[in-house]
Amino acid sequence: MFVCPGKSCVKCSRLLAFRQQNEAAFPRYYNAPVPSFGELSAEILIIGLAPGLHGANQTGRPFTNDYAGDVLYPALLKYGLAQGQYKKIKDDGFELLNVRITNAVRCVPPQNKVTGEEVKNCGLYLLDEINNMSHLKVVLTLGAVAHNAFLSVMGCQKSRFKFAHGAVHKLPQRNLLLLNSYHTSRYNINTGVLTFEMFDKIIEKLVSLL
Ligand code: URA
Repeated sequence: MFVCPGKSCVKCSRLLAFRQQNEAAFPRYYNAPVPSFGELSAEILIIGLAPGLHGANQTGRPFTNDYAGDVLYPALLKYGLAQGQYKKIKDDGFELLNVRITNAVRCVPPQNKVTGEEVKNCGLYLLDEINNMSHLKVVLTLGAVAHNAFLSVMGCQKSRFKFAHGAVHKLPQRNLLLLNSYHTSRYNINTGVLTFEMFDKIIEKLVSLL
């Protein structure tokens, strides 16, 4: 059975200390490991990095009220992978279609930077999640951290599956396909590393892989 880590998860001391600090500073925020969004029965899993302090950590839903969600969610809507209106709050009725979204690390990290140990600790939950997605066909990783986190939990050699924007990798495990994209972060958009058009092409490709 899939068990979502709640506030009782104390695996990462640095993230726990940051959570406690945020509970004092922002008592109305969610301030806990953010659960995945979408059904376990989905064929697509999208893996992000970690909740943003005033985004997913505030709302309790991945990418919700984060700038990265302003890029991700409209693209999913455009290609029929979501329905409803994305209003940047958890209870907006917005629904994912055949997609589940999770993060390599489920707690908000200081300065948006996760450590290798935190990725490893949270990998137990990621693996559990993947093992419980019996219809899973395609995994879209946003950024190199998510890519490497996914390869680690699947027991794949990183040197055999190099991260490259737009690359599609075939994994021996469960015939899974892995698609890479640059992360939809504000930094990547502002620096032109990723554009809205480039990300649309990624979601178009994702749909074509099903
Ligand atoms: N960025 C991510 O990678 N994940 C979130 O949930 C929010 C922002």
